Amino acid sequence: MNRITVITLFLLFSLTMMAQDWVVPEDKRGKLSPFNFNDVTRKAGERLYTINCISCHGTPGKGNFLNLVPPPGDPATDKIQHNSDGEIFFKVSNGRGLMPSFKNVLSSNDIWNLISFLRSFKPGYVQSVMTVSKSTAYPGAVIGISFILSPGKDEVQVRITAANEKSSVPVKMPE
Ligand code: HEC
Repeated sequence: MNRITVITLFLLFSLTMMAQDWVVPEDKRGKLSPFNFNDVTRKAGERLYTINCISCHGTPGKGNFLNLVPPPGDPATDKIQHNSDGEIFFKVSNGRGLMPSFKNVLSSNDIWNLISFLRSFKPGYVQSVMTVSKSTAYPGAVIGISFILSPGKDEVQVRITAANEKSSVPVKMPE
């Protein structure tokens, strides 16, 4: 191979890598924050951003992110903002390549606070908040319902749990 071919192949390879979409599993895309974003959550998010993200992503709106491949991007641009809240949550939690995984560093509330800060750079953003069911039988807990389909079996399992910050218990005799 001559030098031109090698360079061309290298460029093609880099472009393919750069163009590779970061696809978030479908069931994670619609994930929503359990609380409303407001000035307090945005302030908390800004602090977390300065500690954990600014070194690579730069100051939002300044375009001064690090020159990495693929590029981290400026949070004030569509590169980050095109993501749904659930997609940002997934990407920040799991990371990819040079983007670190934060799931063992930040709590999920921290990540939502970060997202509330990031969304302050999206004009016209309207937040959807998770609908939460509560029951007086389980004070303070959030009731979650999941349906489990077993392939090849004619049945659906319904699992109902009441969860709070510390634990999750099956709901007895769901009505
Ligand atoms: C060490 C550098 C680094 C740090 C620190 C970092 N990121 Fe990233 N980030 C990247 C890189 C590089 C990418 C592109 C990854 C890819 O596309 O494979 C990225 C991608 C992302 C994306 C996805 C963008 C897209 O294309 O959809 C989001 C969202 C994001 N970062 C948010 C954050 C947040 C929030 C923090 C702080 C909690 C953070 N990042 C910290 C380097 C970093």
